[in-house]
Amino acid sequence: MERTLVLVKPDGVQRGLIGEVISRLERRGLRMVAAKFMAVSQELAETHYAIHKGKPFYDGLISYITSAPVMAMVWEGPQAVAAVRQTMGATKPVEAAPGTLRHDFALEVGRNLTHASDSVENGAKEVELWFKKSELVEWKREVDRWVFEK
Ligand code: RTP
Ligand code: MG
Repeated sequence: MERTLVLVKPDGVQRGLIGEVISRLERRGLRMVAAKFMAVSQELAETHYAIHKGKPFYDGLISYITSAPVMAMVWEGPQAVAAVRQTMGATKPVEAAPGTLRHDFALEVGRNLTHASDSVENGAKEVELWFKKSELVEWKREVDRWVFEK
């Protein structure tokens, strides 16, 4: 079962959209594994976005993600990485498909509401970066067999 890190970024939190994001992922059939509401330290932001260091938008990205609390979560399911990124929509909200979160709730790339891991490998790395092992909850839902084929 794949796992992916999801963040409701500071704009999503400020705009009262935590519930909307959770609701869409739940509705999709994905299973929550962990969640915490937290301030993001400079150090965590820099580690998380290390790949973007040196890019023109890097400084703005770090100040954006550290500007207010985020809701950090881990979600799992078959092809969870692809499924969650599809639900979020394209990075640039004006390129996001109608019905996606970024289409429905955002306009600008620098205020695009959410983060989701972009590969299975990065999903595992990001889950480890943001959560302690003891914070990850292993559980089964009654409905799992009606959502997951295997
Ligand atoms: P994310 O990591 O947040 O899920 O988004 P992503 O994979 O779709 O986008 P990525 O390329 O990883 O970029 C990370 C975040 O940086 C901001 N960004 N700004 N001004 C720009 O051209 C630009 N490009 C990226 C966005 O907030 C993006 O989500
Ligand atoms: Mg990314």
